[in-house]
Amino acid sequence: MEAKFRNIRKIVQHLKHPYRLFFYLALLGIIYMVLDIVEPVLAGHIMDALLSNEVKTEIWQLGLLWLAIFILKYAVSYEKMRIGLFSMLSGMENIQLSIFQTILSAPLAFFNQFSVGYLMARQTDDVFNLEGMMPHHLVEGLLAIAESFIILSCMFYLNVWLGIGAVLLKCLDLFSNFYFPLKQLYKEHNEARAITSSELQDVLKNILMIKAAGKEKEESQRFQECLKQYYGTWNKRDEINYIRSLLTRMSEDASYMIIIVLGGVSMYYGKMTIGEITAFLLFYKKLSSAFVGAVPLIPLFKIGEGAMERVDELKRHIPEGKTSDDEKGQMESRGKIELQNVKFSYNNQRILQGVSMSFKPGEITAIVGKSGAGKSTIIKLLLGLYQVEDGKILWNGKDVNQINGQSMRSLISYIPQDAPLFHRTLRENILYEAPESVSDEDVSKVIARTGIQEMQKRFEQKEKAWNLETTVSGGERQRINLARALLKNGSIYIFDEATSALDTETEKIVQQTLRELSRTKVVIIISHRLSSVRKADKIYVLDEGSVQENGSHEELMKKKGRYYRLFEEQVKKNDEKQITG
Ligand SMILES: Nc1ncnc2c1ncn2[C@@H]1O[C@H](COP(=O)(O)OP(=O)(O)O)[C@@H](O)[C@H]1O
Ligand SMILES: [Mg+2]
Repeated sequence: MEAKFRNIRKIVQHLKHPYRLFFYLALLGIIYMVLDIVEPVLAGHIMDALLSNEVKTEIWQLGLLWLAIFILKYAVSYEKMRIGLFSMLSGMENIQLSIFQTILSAPLAFFNQFSVGYLMARQTDDVFNLEGMMPHHLVEGLLAIAESFIILSCMFYLNVWLGIGAVLLKCLDLFSNFYFPLKQLYKEHNEARAITSSELQDVLKNILMIKAAGKEKEESQRFQECLKQYYGTWNKRDEINYIRSLLTRMSEDASYMIIIVLGGVSMYYGKMTIGEITAFLLFYKKLSSAFVGAVPLIPLFKIGEGAMERVDELKRHIPEGKTSDDEKGQMESRGKIELQNVKFSYNNQRILQGVSMSFKPGEITAIVGKSGAGKSTIIKLLLGLYQVEDGKILWNGKDVNQINGQSMRSLISYIPQDAPLFHRTLRENILYEAPESVSDEDVSKVIARTGIQEMQKRFEQKEKAWNLETTVSGGERQRINLARALLKNGSIYIFDEATSALDTETEKIVQQTLRELSRTKVVIIISHRLSSVRKADKIYVLDEGSVQENGSHEELMKKKGRYYRLFEEQVKKNDEKQITG
């Protein structure tokens, strides 16, 4: 019971003026209920009056009153529906937004646990299933219970035995709705749906690889397994739903037969008038509609609870931030960055064994090492996206943990390894992080400098930009990202394998740009290709989780250590490529 209240409280938190809303819905519900109950009483009176040749004016008055009640009832009903729908949809909107914001605020480590498709399915499907917990359903459910009691009392008043019969048959209906484990069934089905959606997203993302590898058949088989699970849980869920509605209809049909037979017998023995039987039948119909209104709310509520628990589960995977960013100091715009004996693991697997480095304005610093050495990880730590396990990262001598993350990141122009893009116009992509003060002239300059004029024309309009992300080449991707980084104009530039896909011509432009930037800014370049870091002022060689050597290209070559060997290896490979290619 407590869990039910907790779930309801969570819904209420997402509503605007919840108390006012509940009060209004309850008021409308009560007016409707009173009108609904008065109706059969009036009908019974009219019937008996008609048969007993009473004064006709009374019948007219009663008739008009019935008409007025009838019209009012449906007007109230409309208002109830309008408010209910509005409150439900705005509640869902708020919940969906709150899930979205929770996901966005999650630390990067959270995204290693779930795939994009899985998160998308949970973000939408679970919210749709919350319907049963929305205010109008809750109010309706409670009022329907009250109404059922009042109607039953009236029925008992008219005829005790018929009343008992009606209660017994309705118990069958209630049993079928309480008995089945719908919450679990819907939860299982939603999980299967989220997994299917995640699988589909994965396949579509890797379609090129699947086709190139000729793996269509295997992928179909894999997907079939997912679908089996998905439709299997659907089948289980709806089979139970059919049994439920069958039991409801059965009890309904049987009831009318019993009322007519027993009512007829009572009338024969003079225990009931035709007006009373009419009233009883109408009451029974009202009882059924109160049940029809309320009973499905039970499974709906259970389904909603399942969904709420899944929404909560998702949020529980996201640890609360230790200290709010607002309490931390702002970042100074210029300065040096230092890593002191930094250790870090992913899922208990040590990646960095104690790394020390420093980056200064006015210098180009490079980090080299085989792929998987932990180069990108160092950058993610610098950006404060993961927490170091041991050791320190200092910005101008200040521990990174004491600095406002947002203010720190606002100073960094960062080009990640896989050069991400949005399905948005090229302009939106390159201005993604740019300050307000950027002028059209600056934008044009950067576009010209990075050589993306032609693309700017191609992806100018929103309608044509939807395929930007999927159609640009690797080099074009990197050029757009370079433009974005330049327009942000941070005081620290980080290029993670940012030139790996560029042609020699563009790489030259990048090298020149780097040199210009490095006059006043911190520039960090990361590469596994040593040829692109030769001109760096300082090179760190990362291997086996720590820095093995550092110095300029010439110094390191003289040393004839790890860097020298790596360089020789790559030069040899390049020569071979040139010969064989
Ligand atoms: N999110 C992650 N979860 C678990 N392991 C990861 C994650 N990201 C990277 N790794 C692992 O950490 C190691 C270092 O990765 P990374 O820093 O990306 O290497 P590099 O950039 O030097 O190629 C690799 O073995 C990689 O598989
Ligand atoms: Mg990397």
